[in-house]
Amino acid sequence: MSGWRRNEGRNASGGDIYGKKKQQGPGMNDMSGGNYVTEDGRKIGGVLMEMKNITLRFGGVTAIKDISFDIHEGEIRAIIGPNGAGKSSMLNVISGFYNPQEGEVFFRGSKRPPMKPYQVANQGIARTFQNIALFEGMSVLDNVMTGRLTQMKTNMLAQAIWKGKAEREEVENRELVEKVIDFLEIQAIRKTPVGRLPYGLKKRVELARALAAEPKLLLLDEPMAGMNVEEKEDMSRFILDVNDEFSTTIALIEHDMGVVMDLSDRVVVMDYGKKIGDGTPDEVRNNQDVVDAYLGVSHD
Ligand SMILES: Nc1ncnc2c1ncn2[C@@H]1O[C@H](COP(=O)(O)OP(=O)(O)OP(=O)(O)O)[C@@H](O)[C@H]1O
Ligand SMILES: [Mg+2]
Repeated sequence: MSGWRRNEGRNASGGDIYGKKKQQGPGMNDMSGGNYVTEDGRKIGGVLMEMKNITLRFGGVTAIKDISFDIHEGEIRAIIGPNGAGKSSMLNVISGFYNPQEGEVFFRGSKRPPMKPYQVANQGIARTFQNIALFEGMSVLDNVMTGRLTQMKTNMLAQAIWKGKAEREEVENRELVEKVIDFLEIQAIRKTPVGRLPYGLKKRVELARALAAEPKLLLLDEPMAGMNVEEKEDMSRFILDVNDEFSTTIALIEHDMGVVMDLSDRVVVMDYGKKIGDGTPDEVRNNQDVVDAYLGVSHD
């Protein structure tokens, strides 16, 4: 596991409690195309995912109105906005839970046809949910194992015929799952039924399950909601470490502005289904439309 950037950040700047060193790298003009190195030495590549003119309606409600943005390889991209802004809906479009009525989704350079969530998962996109979705009666270990399901090559029939191959796959899956459990420091609770865990640990188990799928792109819907400051610091550190160690690209929704400002490379701001800001944390913080949306200034 990489260094404890949380403390480095705190010691260096005094106010940077969630740890990533402040972006002092290239300005937005350089960053918008990707392919740069961040202040803390992470390599950001080109466009991994591009959402083009996405519109999503539920009956009379337009949850997303003509939104475009991209996600660069290796970056931590935040999606923020007031309640009901359409953030979860956007994550649900990326993960294939909803297919938008209008717009196009490009992943790894190819236009993605409408897909089912499992097909999107097979492409290397894993997620956690705003409301934790774990099997409460099952152990932590078994829950994390379910994250491997999309990766399993051997089906039931093949398992019966080629026992050796299936066994090998099982062993490999177990090894990877144990690695994830170590990484997220949940060894001590690996046999505990999830239903007995406190909320903060459940959130970490959900992250573990998503990581077990070895995603290229990890989607986190409010990974720190309902956590105390210490739990948020831990979760922030794990998110940074995942990004750093495995070069996993991360898109996350978060309400805590301290977390967003410290963790993310770029931020998309939504309000009433529209995109009202897009840029570095500093850029969006100084954007008047964003300030107004958060202060509840009325909309025309
Ligand atoms: N399945 C659905 N059916 C009907 N309307 C929906 C559905 N999902 C979301 N909506 C509506 O779409 C809008 C955006 O909701 P969404 O959950 O995406 O917001 P959000 O930004 O994630 O909010 P929050 O911060 O409260 O989680 C809301 O008006 C919501 O009521
Ligand atoms: Mg939401």
